[in-house]
Amino acid sequence: MSTPRKSRDPRTLRPATRLVHGGAMRSQFEETSEALFLTQGYLYDSCAQAEARFKGDAPGFIYSRFSNPTVAMFEQRMALLEGAEAARATASGMAAVTAALMGQLKAGDHVVASRALFGSCLYVVEELLPRFGVASTLVEGSDLAAWTAAIRPNTKTAFLESPTNPTLDVVDIAAVADILHQAGATLVVDNAFASPMLQHPLALGADCVVYSATKHIDGQGRTLGGIILAAEKFIADNVHNFLRQTGPCLSPFNAWVLLKSLETLPLRVGQMDRTAAKIADFLAAHPKVARVVYPGRADHPQRAVAAKQMSGGGTLVAFEVVGGKAAAFAVADALTIIGISNNLGDAKSLVTHPETTTHQRLKPEQRAALGIGPGLLRLSVGLEDPDDLIEDLDQALGKLAAVRSAAE
Ligand SMILES: Cc1ncc(COP(=O)(O)O)c(C=O)c1O
Repeated sequence: MSTPRKSRDPRTLRPATRLVHGGAMRSQFEETSEALFLTQGYLYDSCAQAEARFKGDAPGFIYSRFSNPTVAMFEQRMALLEGAEAARATASGMAAVTAALMGQLKAGDHVVASRALFGSCLYVVEELLPRFGVASTLVEGSDLAAWTAAIRPNTKTAFLESPTNPTLDVVDIAAVADILHQAGATLVVDNAFASPMLQHPLALGADCVVYSATKHIDGQGRTLGGIILAAEKFIADNVHNFLRQTGPCLSPFNAWVLLKSLETLPLRVGQMDRTAAKIADFLAAHPKVARVVYPGRADHPQRAVAAKQMSGGGTLVAFEVVGGKAAAFAVADALTIIGISNNLGDAKSLVTHPETTTHQRLKPEQRAALGIGPGLLRLSVGLEDPDDLIEDLDQALGKLAAVRSAAE
């Protein structure tokens, strides 16, 4: 394996170029497209070479649970995109979240997290960590005083996502990172919703960023994957051994799919972001829509923070349909292009009813505190023509109006 002959230091390249060429390694065949190394193991020239590799004295691959050339290319390209010193890929976004948190923690430690978390992340923070003697406190993410008040002498790390799922609240990442650093603790940010194109948590002061690569990074609804990005020391101290010994590694095949997907990430996210902004404005003007939440709109509650830390409004729009659960179900069921699915970041537009799916596990009072009402729908905007999507939403909302007026 070698770096391509005509290669330039990728750090001197602009982001879109990094995403096409960054991290590439070529075999002796000089292939143009990155190779898929579907192998579990690697041969050594001699026992002495094997010994040296195991000791870490010689470079080279040992076993694909530890590292693999295709996975390494994906990690390197992601590190270049994020401006991170190091990256470790995982089998899913949840494997990345769990490793980034558990790898840092031991019994007796304390974690602070924002209340508005993806359901499985909430399970890790609220149920799993306490089973191993790690206390956790949940706070309202946009309330900086609440973060400060939650810190204890044994607070080791904090965890947040921004924008949040599904209500798209925005948390001030730089301010929260400052609060944590003053207490000698670290901050881990789940950047799945913003995607690596629209927000850079490490540059804002976070110590570690995690992704569900399943979302925008794959972007075509095919593979699960995850990645952890941080400084070399953070990875070495907290993540490297945890992943090697517990084994939630990314398959080389999935790494190859994700690596190739990165080539088109700026085009896809840019287009999805522009379409989402158009759809948010359409929905905000519709009489059957009670509320629209989109971080790119002037009426977003944390618009100033969003403008400071995001370079777009994002690819998701949350909206509340007039008429509660029955109306939300009727609108989603009537859509003809937009599919019903809990996934997001896909080229295909997808709609979710969070109350009955992704956030079903929460207690009603928890949902109420997060603003997840019965009429709320979360729309993940895809790559279709924006006017087709608006027409689809319009006809679905129009049917709702007809059903309601017939019943009245
Ligand atoms: C914000 C967020 N974090 C993490 C995950 C978990 O990712 P995965 O499904 O790849 O494990 C998801 C998945 O929906 C998510 O939305």
